[in-house]
Amino acid sequence: MRNMFLSLTLVLCFITDHLIQIDGVRVNSHNLIYDERLFPLPTFGQSTIEFKSKRIQQITGLEPGDTAPAFSVPILDGEFVYPPLTGLKGPVLIHAFTNKSAFLECLWNSESSLTDLVQDLPENTQVLFVSFDDSSVGDALWMRDQVHRTALHRKKEVLSRLHFSPVPVFSLGNWIPSVLYSWACSGHNCGLSQAVFTSTGWKMPVIIKRLDARYDWLMGHWSQRKYQLIDAGDACTPNSSVADAVAWVSEGSCSFFTKVKNMAQSKATGVLVHTLPGNPIQDMNCVGDECYTPLGIPAAMVHSEPSVTQALQYGQQVNVSFQSTPYPNFFIGIDQQGALSEMGWFLYPSFKFLNWQAQWFDFSERLQTRLRDPALVVPVFEKVQMQGQIGAVATVDLPTDILGFDILELDASLSCPSRRDDSCPPWDHTVQLFVCCDPLSPFCNMELGRWITAFRRGIGHWLTDVSPLRPLFNNERCTFTMKTVPWAMPWVVSLSLRFTNSRANLSDSLYPFTLMSLYNGGTFDKEYNKRYEPIKFTVPASTKKVELYAVITGHGSDNNGCGEFCVTSHHFLVNGAFNNTRVFDSAGSALGCAMQVGEGAVPNEHGTWLYGRGGWCDGLQVNPWRVDITTQVDMSGIEANTLLYFGLYNGQDPNPCQDPGYIVMFSYLVFYK
Ligand SMILES: *[C@@H]1O[C@H](CO)[C@@H](O)[C@H](O)[C@H]1NC(C)=O
Ligand SMILES: *[C@@H]1O[C@H](CO)[C@@H](O)[C@H](O)[C@H]1NC(C)=O
Ligand SMILES: *[C@@H]1O[C@H](CO)[C@@H](O)[C@H](O)[C@H]1NC(C)=O
Ligand SMILES: *[C@@H]1O[C@H](CO)[C@@H](O)[C@H](O)[C@H]1NC(C)=O
Ligand SMILES: *[C@@H]1O[C@H](CO)[C@@H](O)[C@H](O)[C@H]1NC(C)=O
Repeated sequence: MRNMFLSLTLVLCFITDHLIQIDGVRVNSHNLIYDERLFPLPTFGQSTIEFKSKRIQQITGLEPGDTAPAFSVPILDGEFVYPPLTGLKGPVLIHAFTNKSAFLECLWNSESSLTDLVQDLPENTQVLFVSFDDSSVGDALWMRDQVHRTALHRKKEVLSRLHFSPVPVFSLGNWIPSVLYSWACSGHNCGLSQAVFTSTGWKMPVIIKRLDARYDWLMGHWSQRKYQLIDAGDACTPNSSVADAVAWVSEGSCSFFTKVKNMAQSKATGVLVHTLPGNPIQDMNCVGDECYTPLGIPAAMVHSEPSVTQALQYGQQVNVSFQSTPYPNFFIGIDQQGALSEMGWFLYPSFKFLNWQAQWFDFSERLQTRLRDPALVVPVFEKVQMQGQIGAVATVDLPTDILGFDILELDASLSCPSRRDDSCPPWDHTVQLFVCCDPLSPFCNMELGRWITAFRRGIGHWLTDVSPLRPLFNNERCTFTMKTVPWAMPWVVSLSLRFTNSRANLSDSLYPFTLMSLYNGGTFDKEYNKRYEPIKFTVPASTKKVELYAVITGHGSDNNGCGEFCVTSHHFLVNGAFNNTRVFDSAGSALGCAMQVGEGAVPNEHGTWLYGRGGWCDGLQVNPWRVDITTQVDMSGIEANTLLYFGLYNGQDPNPCQDPGYIVMFSYLVFYK
């Protein structure tokens, strides 16, 4: 969707300055998104120290990856016991509610959020709900009512997997409170976002919870200063009195978009929409075409506050400022293996994010199972830091018996300097693995694998089948280089080669005996296709199969969002007749990459990981594209074949009017016998 990349691009321009100021990090990728945790409020450091005080560390010191100790918690209909006595083990997610958070209030009142929980919670997953507040008994009953009401006309099975504890977090008496406290976080939808009102007649400020408009809709950002607050009614028409002030606007009568647009036109510096009495706080977002229009000012939703409304009615000056107060974490995950896990960032108030984390636990469990299968494993990197121009480099002696296997997979993972996600690099970047086994060979330093880093999450682990590239191992001793942009913060990489057999009898499978390197990508501008010449080739003697193998990703952001957020297509025309085509049709779609969590895309990253992209997702390997073209070529070894690559945007040559994007491509013909 165009809207996303548009608003995204603007956000990025805004952020880049900040990043340079604050972190001294150079940024030149448009795949990046601002993470509020880079700009912690002054109180954050203090509270972190408090939460991490020595005493708490001594009591538990539990970190992500540690085994969750056994516990039991009273719930409305009995007791929740972990580990479950039945032995059946799926993930267990713990969510602690507090009505002090407008984000959680919305999470629990939004129909679509509750529906997502009831309909799409993965089938093996249990959720334990607790409350931080004194009202924990009422909260447990209310949360249960919310899901029961939502489940009324739907499948009821899920209800047996949702458990509600009437005991507040501060009385649990087990390790759960200290993990929630010590994994505290701050920033978007984590911690407590608040609006602070002051007025001349008041002795005390009025401080209430707020929910900022959808992160990827409005690019505006509240600054630390005080704003004057001006009543603008329902803001369904522009109102010049709000110039240079924050508009106080009632919900209803027109869309959130209309209100914010009117107030932006009236030169307001921001918008505070207050609920009508009795209504819950909602997730302010744009709909459809609205999202094409950047509005440029921040907005948030709060409850209607009588003292504020009254003061404004009596013509008293009211000021508002915005703050974020740290709070214990709202979520803890326990995977199938019993390991504790952070649950990442919920980009908007929806239980979808809970489901995605659980889906990823399932992916991870399947991966662990596969990794226990017998294989010849050649370690390359074991928790090696990858950073700078050099990246991570290792020279490895390959065992001679690799010829006895027909599958080669890369087992790669990217973790962070500490076990917490907040030590992870904040931006998404391309990671490439190059291999050189014979410095004199044309195959030296060809690309063997490609991944894209996650936005600040250290759980990525992937298995990528690169079997056709075995001819790159044309010597026993090979040097592997894995790197990303030199200015990225360090990732800790692990990589091994896994050799296995797809068949009991190896003579039943063909062996890739040589490769031919084809095309690389480049700047995706109107000259893009003019740079490519047809390649002529004859098929080597005794070849039984010819395969096209390409790893293609689109990056950057021109006026059409190319190549990251636009639909590009890539064509390898064989002998002028066979148009082998790969289309990145989910690029720019709202949930294109969220739909890949089951295949290993890291969920709940601290950025816009959900959108589909040009051939890739954040926190995922780039899957090689493989096409058997044996029937398209002359196999006699006498006639020359021709092959030509071209890349299109919208079925035509790209023709951006500004900031052309670029395509990263390694492509090969693989010959099997
Ligand atoms: C949460 O707080 C809002 C107002 O702050 C209130 O209207 C609502 O009833 C509360 N919900 C629960 C479950 O306590
Ligand atoms: C509101 O803010 C303005 C500017 O910072 C300040 O002069 C004024 O005294 C404030 N009024 C109140 C009631 O806080
Ligand atoms: C602006 O909003 C105020 C408060 O609702 C209202 O009294 C005034 O009439 C509005 N002005 C316009 C031009 O709508
Ligand atoms: C493997 O297959 C080949 C050819 O298909 C056959 O000649 C050979 O006997 C088989 N080996 C075993 C161990 O089955
Ligand atoms: C290949 O297919 C694409 C669309 O899928 C089309 O735009 C292009 O013209 C075709 N090229 C040839 C040479 O057939």
